Amino acid sequence: MSLSASLKAVLAEVVGERPILWEAPLASWTTYRIGGPADALVTLHDGAEVRQLLALCRREGIRWKVLGRGSNILASDDGFRGLIIVLEGKFKYIVRQQEAVENRPVVQVGAAVSLPRLADWCCTEGCGGLEFTAGIPGTVAGAVIMNAGAWGAEMSRIVGEVELLGPDGSVALKAAQLRFGYRCCLSLREEFGDLVIGKVQIILEKDQPEGIRKRMRELQQKRRISQPVGLASGGCVFKNPAGVSAGRLIDEAGLKGMRIGDAQISETHANFFVNRGRASAADMLALIRLVRDRVQETSGNILEMEIEFLPAEPSR
Ligand code: EPU
Repeated sequence: MSLSASLKAVLAEVVGERPILWEAPLASWTTYRIGGPADALVTLHDGAEVRQLLALCRREGIRWKVLGRGSNILASDDGFRGLIIVLEGKFKYIVRQQEAVENRPVVQVGAAVSLPRLADWCCTEGCGGLEFTAGIPGTVAGAVIMNAGAWGAEMSRIVGEVELLGPDGSVALKAAQLRFGYRCCLSLREEFGDLVIGKVQIILEKDQPEGIRKRMRELQQKRRISQPVGLASGGCVFKNPAGVSAGRLIDEAGLKGMRIGDAQISETHANFFVNRGRASAADMLALIRLVRDRVQETSGNILEMEIEFLPAEPSR
């Protein structure tokens, strides 16, 4: 069901002067460049706006979803029935905290800061530990929810605390309460899934900017060689089964380069599927099913999705 005219009016009241994009094409908000229109998309600039809007959504039963860079999302061709929230303004700050933790520099980061910008800032400030994120396109909040990782490191190593915003106020969760796992953060997906990340505290290591910059360049170079950098994709489609690379399994099943419509298994890294132009979510899902079946037949491994499919209607 689309947002009714009366709800549209109430919504416009809450966000005031801020523009609301009606029928916002999700293809423009996701790195796959796939997805039909969301009923509405609003950009919120501070915690008070988030709280107000979440209270409205709760009161009116409006479905909502926060999008970061949309770098791990496959959005439905039918779009999204509900409200997409994008964070901006005060969610884009990076501040070094006065007090260090065990002599390690501590940084407060707004949810909407992009990982490349954060990594660059940390490098300039001589704060090491984020080099592994070089080339990951998401926002810091998305990276925490996903427990994004590469080259043997992951976000859980550096996250100290996360502040969550809800309709009734905010709550801070320490790293130990977040229940990080491989490419997931259970607490943020489950019991706190109806709250929005406002800021993240990260704890880094003092280091020399030149050394950090050098390591970042090396990792970016490795990524350029082994992954389809620059093409429209959502990163790795599947999680790695224990002790084995999903990319290698798909490759060994002979599937590299396979195509359904404009959805294609990358020739460079088989766990990346790329949109060669006008791929639909249906093409991508068909390719995902085909790969799952073939890998199970050839290797016995059952692949689990790492990317998130965003359905048009709430799943029951
Ligand atoms: N391999 C193949 N064929 C392929 C892809 C990989 O034979 O098409 C082989 C590689 O040659 C290598 C092994 O499989 O021997 C592992 O490959 P790679 O080093 O690329 O690592 P991965 O396990 O496939 C993981 C993460 C990536 C991350 C890289 C680099 C997952 C699902 N993937 O990939 O993360 O960038 O390591 O550290 O954990 C992501 O999460 O979206 C992602 C891209």
